[in-house]
Amino acid sequence: MMRHELGEGRSYIVGDAIEVLQEYRDEAAAIFLDDAWARPNRYGHFGIDYDTHPFNEEQDAEGYVDTSITTCEIIDESHDALSEGGWLIADADDWLLPRLARYLQDEWGDVAESYEGGGYRKVGGVTITKADGTPDRSTAGMYLSTGGYPVVFAHKGDSDRQTSESARQIASNGLDDYGWGSVKPISPYKSWVKGLIDPGELILVPCAGTAPAALAAEQLFGDEAHYVCVDNDERAFEAFQRRRKEEVPDTHQKSL
Ligand SMILES: C[S@@+](CC[C@H](N)C(=O)[O-])C[C@H]1O[C@@H](n2cnc3c(N)ncnc32)[C@H](O)[C@@H]1O
Repeated sequence: MMRHELGEGRSYIVGDAIEVLQEYRDEAAAIFLDDAWARPNRYGHFGIDYDTHPFNEEQDAEGYVDTSITTCEIIDESHDALSEGGWLIADADDWLLPRLARYLQDEWGDVAESYEGGGYRKVGGVTITKADGTPDRSTAGMYLSTGGYPVVFAHKGDSDRQTSESARQIASNGLDDYGWGSVKPISPYKSWVKGLIDPGELILVPCAGTAPAALAAEQLFGDEAHYVCVDNDERAFEAFQRRRKEEVPDTHQKSL
């Protein structure tokens, strides 16, 4: 495990997500997860050449799959790493969404109308647009295009972290992929960080890649951003550094 310090309160660890999440108990205000789930046929498509893992132990995943961990284990460890009322905000796709929502409802709770307790809260999402403002369907599939991706929101126990920011966001693509797979836009995370987290509070980003949620916090809070990112692939850290240099040039210079 290699910890890269990026300034006070900010680090990027090259290591395993589970091991790092286990270092944090009841600490994080939010966890932003864009997991490396092994949807059938995912590996080798859309620039995915990193480790992917099964959703749970029952999934008989094929392709380039790391069976030492599962998405469900990451979700379990995320629960323990969150402080009471902290949020899990997890990117998904149409394969992962029903499985993840069901797992959260079963394990974290299904939020009641009274808003008591915690658990599964909402399905939001990001619509990616082209320069002319229309949805980007460049990854059109055989069975309809979604022009973006769903995002699942859940919280641990009762939460005072409330916001009217939209769970559904629109972001233009114009996106450099920084040489990495499934790179996500920063602006939706900016809305959610602004709405749910105060400066100085801890954000964890397991399976970070270029860690857009951490960069969103840094754009908003500057030196008061407090995050720990983790990815088990050194190339992801290199891609993150390139993205950070471009997206938060001032902070980057200070931490060199
Ligand atoms: C979907 S990508 C994240 C991309 C990110 N949202 C972005 O915008 O750049 C998932 C990441 O999980 C990482 N990963 C896979 N297995 C991991 C593990 N066991 N621990 C930590 N990271 C892991 C992969 O290397 C990959 O970078």
